This record gives sequence, C-alpha cells and structure tokens, in this order.
Amino acid sequence: MAHEHSRRAVLGGVAGVGAVAGLTALAPSAAAQPSPARPFEGKIVQITGATSGIGEATARAFAAAGAKVAFCGRRRQLGREVERTIREAGGEATYLHADVRDPRSVQRFVDGAVRRYGGLDIAFANAGIQYAARLHETTLEQWDDLMATNARGVFLAMKYQIPHLIDAGGGQIIVNSSVGAVVGRPELSLYQASKQAIQALVRSAALEYGEQGIRVNAILPGITDTPMIRPPELDDPTWERAKAALGQLNVDGLKTVASADQIAQAVLAMAAPGFGYLTGVSVPVDGGVAAGRRMLLPER
Ligand SMILES: NC(=O)c1ccc[n+]([C@@H]2O[C@H](COP(=O)([O-])OP(=O)(O)OC[C@H]3O[C@@H](n4cnc5c(N)ncnc54)[C@H](OP(=O)(O)O)[C@@H]3O)[C@@H](O)[C@H]2O)c1
Repeated sequence: MAHEHSRRAVLGGVAGVGAVAGLTALAPSAAAQPSPARPFEGKIVQITGATSGIGEATARAFAAAGAKVAFCGRRRQLGREVERTIREAGGEATYLHADVRDPRSVQRFVDGAVRRYGGLDIAFANAGIQYAARLHETTLEQWDDLMATNARGVFLAMKYQIPHLIDAGGGQIIVNSSVGAVVGRPELSLYQASKQAIQALVRSAALEYGEQGIRVNAILPGITDTPMIRPPELDDPTWERAKAALGQLNVDGLKTVASADQIAQAVLAMAAPGFGYLTGVSVPVDGGVAAGRRMLLPER
C-alpha cells in the first residue's frame, strides 16, 4: 500500500505538462480491491477512440469491471454521452476531447487523464480509420491522414504514456491492430500497411520496456460490427442480413462477424493478470480469418 501511495505521488508530480484545465484529481480509493465481479477495481485505464465501436465497448467493459477509464475521440457529443451512460451504470469514466493526429492534443489527453485519476495502469491504443480504394487511386492526403491516425497516433499515445508507466513501475499497452495486418485484401493496402506498422512498434517496444515491467501487445480483431464497417444507410434488418452473409463468406472458422463486446472482452482478458507473462505478441481474435484463407472455386 505504501508503494501504491508513493507511486501515485510520483505520477502527480510528472503530470503537469499539458494539464487539462478544470480537471480535478480523484483520490485513489483505499477500500476498493479487485474481486471476481470487478477484476479491474482501482485500475486506471486510458483508451484512444472510445466514442464508438470497439473503443466504446472496451471503455464500458473496463468500467463495469471496476476500472477508472479516461478516453478520447473527436466527436464531443458522443464522448459526453458515453461518459454519462457509463456513470449512470455505476462506472467511472471521463471523456477528454483529443485528436490522435495532433501531438499536443495526445499529450494533453494522456497527461490530463493521469492528473484526473492519479496514474496509469493500462493503455488501449484503439483509435483508427479506414479508407477503401485501389492503391493507385489512393490520394496522398488519404495516405497521410490514415498513417497519421492509425500508425503515428499509436506512436504518439505510447510516446506520452510510457514515461507514466515507467514512473509507475510498470503497466501495459494494448494496441488495436487488425487481422488485416497478416492477410491481404484488395482495396485495403493502405489500411493493412498501417496495421502492420503498429505490430512492429509493439514487438520492439516490448523488448525496450520489458525490464521496466511494461508489457506491450497487440490484438488483431477480425471483422467486427461497428460503424467502421456498417454502411450508414442500411436499416437494422438489412444490416443483420448483410452481416450474416459477411460472416459466412469471410470468416472461415466461426462464420460470424464479431460484436464490439466480444473484442472488448478479449482486450480485458489480455489485460488480466492471467496473461501476466504475455508480451511482444499480436493475438488474432478473428473467428478464424487468419487461420483460414480459403481458396474459392469458380461456380460450375
Ligand atoms: N470494425 C472492424 O471490423 C475492425 C477490425 C479490426 C480492427 N479494427 C480497428 O478497431 C479500431 C476501432 O474501430 P471500430 O471498428 O470500433 O470503428 P469506429 O466505431 O469507427 O471507431 C473508431 C474510433 O476511433 C476514433 N478516432 C478516429 N480517428 C481519430 C482521431 N484522429 N483522433 C481521435 N480518435 C479518433 C473515433 O472517434 P472520433 O471519430 O470521435 O474521433 C472512434 O471512437 C480501429 O483501430 C480499427 O482499425 C476494426
């Protein structure tokens, strides 16, 4: 416990840079202890891009499991809504506006979140975008925007989070890559390249910081039901049919598209003490996409 207090004190001192105005630090709760129902009780989590999709589901899941969750995203209204509904459900969460393409914005998010909750234990680098286009039709602006979000944004979050994790004596980083990092897909070359870049970050960072007690891993979700893949014009029944077909055609093992909650639970599992010896790896949670790679035969 003494160690815990000194750790928080150190973090409080480090967190001055880019402080977010108006945030008041929450005192760490002395009583809260992990339990089977709330295994992340007292843990402090940061998530980039939790205004929708997998990030949102992960924020809800960590908060329900007892963690204090600071998260960012560009869409303020959605961010406030996610924060409000997590609090209404009895969880602890804070939305901070940030754009992961902007270094100062990322640093403000990271340091502001550390000030808010008095430390950092688990970072989930999740924010990402996708453009689908043939390579020669992809514009330079699309390349720059996608790399700035999916690759540089992950680097920036890690860059500003790692000093806090070192000061804390350890912690972990989980990066949301994609099964697209290990399989090819027409019209997604740019996206797949960005997702493979962050796998390389994970491997080397795991070696750099292992001795300091920091574990670094990536999760590779398969096709997941989020706004990233759902065409906005489809109503619910049409989307459910399209999703079933997507799963049948593309997910060789389980034949279904994942829900955001399924991926969130996998992130929590990776972060749990049971995987305390896991570092430097990229784990597919993809229903068998990476294992499959079917050969489609022409119709007779
Ligand atoms: N859905 C899939 O099939 C699938 C499969 C494998 C991997 N993934 C990965 O999962 C991650 C989450 O995607 P999702 O499927 O959950 O889609 P989503 O619902 O579109 O979520 C993307 C999240 O990233 C945030 N984001 C995007 N650009 C940002 C920026 N510049 N600054 C801050 N936040 C930003 C978005 O927030 P704002 O728009 O509010 O900024 C949103 O919260 C992505 O990295 C994606 O590549 C998805």
